[in-house]
Formats: sequence, C-alpha cells, structure tokens
Amino acid sequence: MEGWRSNAHSRNPTAMTKLLLLPGDGIGPEVIAEVKRVAERLGGDVELEERRFGGASYEAEGVPLTEATLALAKACDAVLMGAVGGPKWADVPRQLRPEAGLLALRAGMEVFANLRPAVCFASLAEASTLKREVVEGLDIMIVRELTGGVYFGQPRGIETLPDGQKRGVDTQVYTTHEIERVSRVAFELARGRRGKVTSAEKSNVMETGHLWREVVTALHAREYADVSLEHMLADNAAMQLVKNPRQFDVIVTDNLFGDILSDEAAQLTGSLGMLPSAALGAPGRPGLYEPIHGSAPDIAGKGLANPLAAILSFGMALRWSLGRPDLDERLTAAVEAALGAGARTRDLGGSLGTREMGDEVLARL
Ligand code: IPM
Ligand code: MG
Repeated sequence: MEGWRSNAHSRNPTAMTKLLLLPGDGIGPEVIAEVKRVAERLGGDVELEERRFGGASYEAEGVPLTEATLALAKACDAVLMGAVGGPKWADVPRQLRPEAGLLALRAGMEVFANLRPAVCFASLAEASTLKREVVEGLDIMIVRELTGGVYFGQPRGIETLPDGQKRGVDTQVYTTHEIERVSRVAFELARGRRGKVTSAEKSNVMETGHLWREVVTALHAREYADVSLEHMLADNAAMQLVKNPRQFDVIVTDNLFGDILSDEAAQLTGSLGMLPSAALGAPGRPGLYEPIHGSAPDIAGKGLANPLAAILSFGMALRWSLGRPDLDERLTAAVEAALGAGARTRDLGGSLGTREMGDEVLARL
C-alpha cells in the first residue's frame, strides 16, 4: 500500500506530463493565470491544456462539465482547478450549477481522498486571527473523504407535502470500503509525518459515525498499530482546532465535516487564500488539485485575489501526480521567501495584486 504515495504514473522520466487547467469562475482565471507563468518558468516538461469549467462551461455549452472535458481530465496526469460558482448561477437548476460540475468531476475522476494541508508559514503567524503562540509552527493535514457521504447520498431532494409544506432530504451514507480506503491514506501519510491520526465523526448520534469509528479502529489494529490513533467527535474537533491546533497531525473525516473543518483550519494559517489541496484516487490515476478558496465573486476580475493557494496546489500536483517533488520544493521555498520578504495580498493585510504576488514568487524561482 505504498503505491498511492508516489501517485505518478510509472513513465520515462524525460517524457512530457500533461496537466489540464480548469480556471472556472470568479477569481479562478486570475489565479490560474499566475500558475501558468510559474509553470512556464519552472519547466519540468509539463504540457498544459485548458478547458472551460463550472459557470463558464454552463454559459458556453449548457452544462458545467462536458463529457469531453471529463474524459480529457481522466486521460491527463493531473487536473488543476481554479474555482467554480457565483451569484450569477444561483437560480440555475441544481444539477446544472457550477458546483454540480465540481462534484461530477470529483466523482468521475474517483478522487476519494482530499488532502488539505494547513501549514502556518512563520512569516504569516501574525496574519491569523488567533494568537501567534497558538498557530506558530502549525502543520496539520486534513484528509477529507471526497466522493461519498451526504454530498452524494440518495435519496435527496425537496418535495411538497399534501399540506403544502415542503420537505428537504439529504442522505448521509458510507460503506466499509469507502471508509477504509480514505483512512488508509491518512495512516500512510501519518507514517511519513508525526505518526498520529485523529478520526473525526459524530458516532454519538449518527449511524455512519458509528460505522466510521468501527472501521477505522479495525483497520488500525489490523495494519497500522504503529500509528497512534485517536477518535474525536467532530464538534469537539472544531473546538480543539481553535483551542490547541498543534495537537493535530493528520485528521481524517467525512466529506461534510471535512469541508467545514478545512475552512476552519485555513483561517488558522492566516487566510483562506493560502490553502492548496490535492484529491487523490487509486494509485496511478490522475489527481485533482484545487485551491480551497472559492470563486470570491466580490473581488473577481479586479486582480486582487491571492494566487498562492493555486500556486501551491500546482506544487502539490508536481509532487503527487507529475513525479517532480523537487520542483514542488523549489516552488514552496519561493513562496516562503516571498512571504518572508513581506509580500502580502489584501487578504493577508497587504496591498499587492494577484499579478504582483505572482511576480514576487517568480522573482524567487
Ligand atoms: C470545497 C468547496 C466545495 C465543497 C463547493 C464549492 C462545492 O466548499 O471544496 O471545500 O463543498 O466541497
Ligand atoms: Mg468548502
């Protein structure tokens, strides 16, 4: 079970690798533009393709993700997305909304393990709304289950009852297999880090939470007894994240709790504009990389967005799918150096624009 760690296809090291860019909506195109400049500078024989996605695809093709784009995504070595969604598509039927395109992409690519690292760069400890001594040196890896749970469970929908009231239904559902494969990723990651996994669920009230705890416990005993495992109720995990975040190493949790806890963890690091993510499937399959910030419609098109989450997501793609961890290291070091020299976009309390922040990173590559 080492395979997924080097998720890259076995290939001739001199061969081109193919990265599909899906800039999407809102600030997506702006931050992906900076990734393109960085990719060009780094070289690394990465061939870039680009397609419309989300609302942009809906406008042009009538659907947020075309079959051709999904097929291309599955045929590339990695996919890097910018952001999807915005108020413009609020009244579009749910299955045609930009977010539906993202869910279809995650499901179609079968990227079940979403790695969301929350690292507090030393020079940004001041930018967090929490005290420096609480967040300094923070290095958490959230492993979010990404293709199951309440995001995909059936039945779901809104029906009208005989008395005219409406009734909305979502279904949280998990199988042993789904819980095991994502937990395995968490345990493997912990082995290469500080050796601790915290599994977060609501086993006190939810059937899926009960099963989650049972399956994680059994897998741990069977294959990962060398890793330390702790179970934590998800509400408590939310509190512990702001109380004493450095107690965590790897957190493994379901799709919905992972969505919430990762936004919370992002804020610990100073800004949502800093957090990259990698979604991985079976070994050898392409990974999906996304900055975890959204489309930020309020600042879209103004050149104000922080491109670092997208740039760091590209770094994760280099590491996990494109077989170039060395380039990820160079890139991350350049980002750290830019921050260390005081480069700040507005979300970090500075005044740099998107392109200027890109320039700061490029200058250090
Ligand atoms: C995320 C986002 C998405 C999610 C939305 C845009 C569908 O919040 O990646 O965290 O809920 O998964
Ligand atoms: Mg989210």
